[in-house]
Amino acid sequence: MENLIENQTITPMPRIGDSAPAFKAVTTQGPIQFPEDYSGKWVILFSHPADFTPVCTSEFMTFAKMHDRFKSLNCELVGLSVDGLYSHIAWLRTIKEKIEFRDMKNMEVKFPLIEDITMDVAKKYGMIQPGESTTKAVRAVFFIDPKGIIRAIIYYPLSLGRNFDELERALIAMQTADKHEIATPADWVPGEDVIVSPAGSCGVAKERMDNEELDCKDWFFCTKKLPLDKI
Ligand code: BEZ
Repeated sequence: MENLIENQTITPMPRIGDSAPAFKAVTTQGPIQFPEDYSGKWVILFSHPADFTPVCTSEFMTFAKMHDRFKSLNCELVGLSVDGLYSHIAWLRTIKEKIEFRDMKNMEVKFPLIEDITMDVAKKYGMIQPGESTTKAVRAVFFIDPKGIIRAIIYYPLSLGRNFDELERALIAMQTADKHEIATPADWVPGEDVIVSPAGSCGVAKERMDNEELDCKDWFFCTKKLPLDKI
């Protein structure tokens, strides 16, 4: 283990609150400059281990199905693997022409898929995790906000396909927290009550306890209604 670490160039992993590391890349939709090309939009930047593999195929079909939904939430999708461009093109064509999964068929992937044969981008984003694989990216998901700041990171191992309802829920929860200055409780889904952050002083705490718009169980635990049409 020690030798493995000694022989590697260690790139620090990006963290929540960091600026998204910049890069230029070739993709299935043309060249991109990241994150500049996405300024003003949320981005889900995600990696998958390899083209022509079954779990990744099921994920790409699901991302393709949800693409318009994410767009309507001002969020673009950008995929990455350490395969080359021609492999990406051939795989996406095969998915469209041959693969059926659940209610999905003829699925066309219209968002960019980055070729990263040098692993430069994958290493910048901590997507190569040698304990899992030295030759493939893990299933990483970076949520990057309209100012280019990393807001959430989720990593999954190679064998575990992502939960897309959770990706959508996380995006909406962060957008809602930003817009309404609230937080969201465990398992929150849009339409449920939200958390009003704890008060900074006794005076404010008393005010909150008396506020009829809030449901305060104690000074530190107040919720309020946030109906779907207000999100
Ligand atoms: C898959 O996507 O099916 C897969 C990729 C790499 C390792 C294991 C599974």
